[in-house]
Amino acid sequence: MTAAEKQKLSCFLDLAGDYFSCGYKITQRDYRFEDDQSALQAAPEITENDSGDSLEKIAREIGVCANCYLAANRTNTVPGEGVTEPLVMVIGEGPGADEDAQGRPFVGKAGQLLDKMLASISLSRNSNCFIANMVKCRPPGNRNPYPEETAACVHFLHRQIKLLKPKFILCAGNVSAQAMLNTTERVGKLHGTFTDIETGGLTIPLFVTYHPSALLHSAEYKRPAWEDLKRLRARLDGQS
Ligand code: URA
Repeated sequence: MTAAEKQKLSCFLDLAGDYFSCGYKITQRDYRFEDDQSALQAAPEITENDSGDSLEKIAREIGVCANCYLAANRTNTVPGEGVTEPLVMVIGEGPGADEDAQGRPFVGKAGQLLDKMLASISLSRNSNCFIANMVKCRPPGNRNPYPEETAACVHFLHRQIKLLKPKFILCAGNVSAQAMLNTTERVGKLHGTFTDIETGGLTIPLFVTYHPSALLHSAEYKRPAWEDLKRLRARLDGQS
């Protein structure tokens, strides 16, 4: 088998393995082989950090986590998905019924709207975003996660941030904005604002907007959400 054939086969097996074993859909990765010197030179390891942590390890730990009440009722854990060097990491609340069934974030109605909102400013989980949630298991009846559930889960998110090193974080809705900013202010006040946060030795600008579910329920949030997105795009483009 040639190096190129090995590369294709390994890529296929790897992506299938990532997807089915731990729930991640990894869309960027480098593959290296002993007999392919050019790939060896060009291929940094991008999912594992110096301390041996990796997205796959985190997803495996999430898969067996029983640190809070949410574990008892889940069908699948939902670690998150997207590219491994994201421009933007989107943080929602927690999986809903569709996400719990599929083990993937934001795949229901709110997720379809989120994808459209992101696409409107040239962002996508397939090319430049990673999508995650504050909690990795579904809160029953789609209620907001309780503070003790968020507290039990948040270390996974911070490990993901440390590995992914997103250039920006986008919090969608009250739950993630309040938890990440350690505030009780609501999204009505926080939306459209940038705040630098410190995590994993990084300083990352965090932007807040409305949760897509809010837009589905109340059309009045569509205009301010669109203004938020344009503001985020301008900042991504270095214009503000
Ligand atoms: N709402 C969220 O906050 N996250 C999801 O993954 C789906 C819906």
